[in-house]
This record gives sequence, structure tokens and C-alpha cells, in this order.
Amino acid sequence: MPIITWGKALSVGYPAIDDDHQKLIALFNAAHGAVKQTSPRQAVETILTELIDYTNWHFDHEEALMEEHGYDRIEAHKLEHQELAANARQLYVQYLAGDDTVPEVLLPFLRNWLTDHILRSDKQLGDFLNGYQRQEL
Ligand SMILES: [Fe+2]
Repeated sequence: MPIITWGKALSVGYPAIDDDHQKLIALFNAAHGAVKQTSPRQAVETILTELIDYTNWHFDHEEALMEEHGYDRIEAHKLEHQELAANARQLYVQYLAGDDTVPEVLLPFLRNWLTDHILRSDKQLGDFLNGYQRQEL
């Protein structure tokens, strides 16, 4: 499984969200590297915790932007976040309970989910936020 390379293709055109996504991808790649190099469990656990915590923080950040700007697709978008957060949380808890196979499932799941979500739902949101800003000028 390759790492995620952040670039123009993943940009949603809205810096506050792009900045978060770059940090998210950096954490994902760090977790990927830690697992691939079979780092000590404590190191993997630390980076997975950071990745999960940051993902949740980022979802809250996006949802606050949606509320602030009256995004019409907020409910569907929030639902996607909730599903990812619940699935990731379940796998993370399984890992904490000692299941070392979790990263092999969790990381590809996050990789596919994040890229798909950014390319589809977050780009829609970025377009909306940019339109909103233009109206404000
Ligand atoms: Fe999102």
C-alpha cells in the first residue's frame, strides 16, 4: 500500500481545509511508515492515537465551517464523518486490546476513505465555501 502524496489533485481550493488535510496525510504517512518498519508497539500506538485524534478534530473543524457558512449538504457530510469515526474508533479499540493485525486493515481503510472523501465530499464543500466567499466580497 503506497503512502498518500498530497498535491494539487487533492486540493479542495480552501486553505483552511487544505492545511488540515496536509497534516492528516502527514500523520497517515507517519503511521504507515511506523507499521511498515515494524516499529515498537508503543510507537505505533502513539502515532495511531495522534492520527485518530487529529481526524476527529479535523471533522469538527470542517463541521464548524459548514455551520458557520450555512452549508446545505451538512447532514450528509456529517454522516460520512460519523461513519468513518465510528469504524476507525472500533478498529483502534481492537488494536489497544492487543490485536496486532488492525493496522493492516485500518490503514488501507483510512487511505481509501480519506482520498475518496476529499476528492468527492470535501471538494464540494470547498467549492461551496469559495462561492460563499466570493459573494461576500
Ligand atoms: Fe469532510
